[in-house]
Amino acid sequence: MCGIVGYVGRKNAVPILVDGLKRLEYRGYDSAGVGVVHDGRLEVRRSVGKIAALESVLAGEPLQGALGVAHTRWATHGKPCDANAHPHRDCSKSVAVVHNGIIENHAHLRKSLERDGHTFESQTDTEVIAHLIERYADEGLECAARRAATALHGAYALGIVSAQAPGTLLGVKNGGAPLVVAVGPDGLFLASDAAAVLTYTRDVLVLDDGEMAVLSDEGVRVVGLDGHAVRKAATTVPWDAAAAEKNGYPHFMLKEIHEQPHAIETTTRAAADLPGTLGLDRQALQRIDRVAIVACGTSWHAALIGKYMVETLCEIPVEVDIASEYRYRVPLASRSTLTIAISQSGETADTLGALRRAKERGSTSVAICNVVGSSVSREADGVLYTRVGPEIGVASTKSFTGQLVALYLLAVHLGRTKGALSADRASALLGELMEIPHLVQTVLARGGRVMELAPALAPYPSFLYLGRGINHPLALEGALKLKELAYAHAEGYPAGEMKHGPIALVDPKLPVVVLAPKDRLYDKVIGNVEEVRARNGLVVAVASDGDEDIATRADHVLYVPQTSELLTPILCAIPLQQLAYHIAVLRDCDVDQPRNLAKSVTVE
Ligand code: AGP
Repeated sequence: MCGIVGYVGRKNAVPILVDGLKRLEYRGYDSAGVGVVHDGRLEVRRSVGKIAALESVLAGEPLQGALGVAHTRWATHGKPCDANAHPHRDCSKSVAVVHNGIIENHAHLRKSLERDGHTFESQTDTEVIAHLIERYADEGLECAARRAATALHGAYALGIVSAQAPGTLLGVKNGGAPLVVAVGPDGLFLASDAAAVLTYTRDVLVLDDGEMAVLSDEGVRVVGLDGHAVRKAATTVPWDAAAAEKNGYPHFMLKEIHEQPHAIETTTRAAADLPGTLGLDRQALQRIDRVAIVACGTSWHAALIGKYMVETLCEIPVEVDIASEYRYRVPLASRSTLTIAISQSGETADTLGALRRAKERGSTSVAICNVVGSSVSREADGVLYTRVGPEIGVASTKSFTGQLVALYLLAVHLGRTKGALSADRASALLGELMEIPHLVQTVLARGGRVMELAPALAPYPSFLYLGRGINHPLALEGALKLKELAYAHAEGYPAGEMKHGPIALVDPKLPVVVLAPKDRLYDKVIGNVEEVRARNGLVVAVASDGDEDIATRADHVLYVPQTSELLTPILCAIPLQQLAYHIAVLRDCDVDQPRNLAKSVTVE
């Protein structure tokens, strides 16, 4: 949520900053800006809209300089407009600040600064930071920035430059918003995400809360907000810049959908030595008598599917919570509770907050994350990385199926450790998982069928997705994909609940996507399909290969190969992703950057 890039070095900062912004655009894209110090002067260019709009501004009014900060915004305080775009400046227009996060006490600080004669130009919470630095300017930039930072309440990451300190770039982190520092051959970088600097290096320093990085021709120095020196070790990012390119696909999302066979294989391989990589010893797992899973959005849907996996394979109760709800109630967690926090980015503020809440209650914790070194992965007691590679499309696809694989592996491991699974059963379960990449490939090869179907469905304004048992969460996920990508109203529902209300919606103008693989609940689902048909609903079924009967009941059928019940959601997820993708393309929606969204939600 919001992307920050900073550079100080021997080259012109502007193209480096703009290239970095493009790589971070998934984090927010309602306005963008760049601020550069040159010849003792700070110059800023800003524009509402995407990075392309900022590039047009820069083409008309070029900038250059070897020190600068840049920002791509996802608005929280103040609507998207040029004046609210970052960087923000002080009264003397010599300090530029870019910010990710929320300053909770900004109104109070603003009043106090206004009393001192400061005038403001934006409605943002960020602008107070530039004015606070100006207030303490006599103490030098580094000191002034530390004093300003200690006055702020909230979670934030900052990039700061000043015309008064033409060779210094500062980065400050406090709370959830991530910030990394990197050393390249011709300069030093600051970024919200390593993706912005992968062209130069894969080794980054990940800042922790309460730390400031000082980047200058003397190198990188990290200090606490009280000024004490901090030693940091580098983290190596497990992918390179090429992995974050479209590679000929029209959209990142389509590329990421097609990467799933390989991604699933990598997640499986990475977890081969799960007891070693997890970071939790046998005793810690043996005492677990309850599991709580916390997550948001698509990761929450993975969590709901994980509940079925863990309860089936470990025979222990599992509770699943939306992280933003969990963190504000009294969680019944203890040392014998295993809290699993699932987050692709590892930076989702609510998931991080929920994990911290569980830890306060003494819970043992495990993170399932994709981004190595992310906050959630670092704060949990143990971590299971999905390693599906960078996911740039705002809609989660390969990270979702990667999470399902990780949950399955964790459930098998926990089931074995707790004695609920025999060695033979565990190895049979892993054998079934090994088949999945090939089966996903088979489903992808049938993508043409989904593309043919999409034009018939694209004009409908509203959709219903139904599933039962382990496929109920997948119905929620299918509906979420369609909502966020195609801006169509879509509701996911447990098929058995239909008759308690939603069936009133069914008519010939409502496509009903039914997940109907051949599993224990197949006959029940068929009963629900009949209920829809009896009311002239339009049925699209996702069904198992060989199920000819369903073709006589549904208007359209998308077939997937058969697999074990616990792994079915991985295969059924693929046509749902493809359907949402094609409908969104037909509706001319921005598939990779849907309106109002950001990939990584680092604010509450
Ligand atoms: C889904 O397609 C989303 N873009 C969104 O729901 C996402 O899953 C959610 O914001 C959680 O993100 P995380 O996995 O990075 O924590």
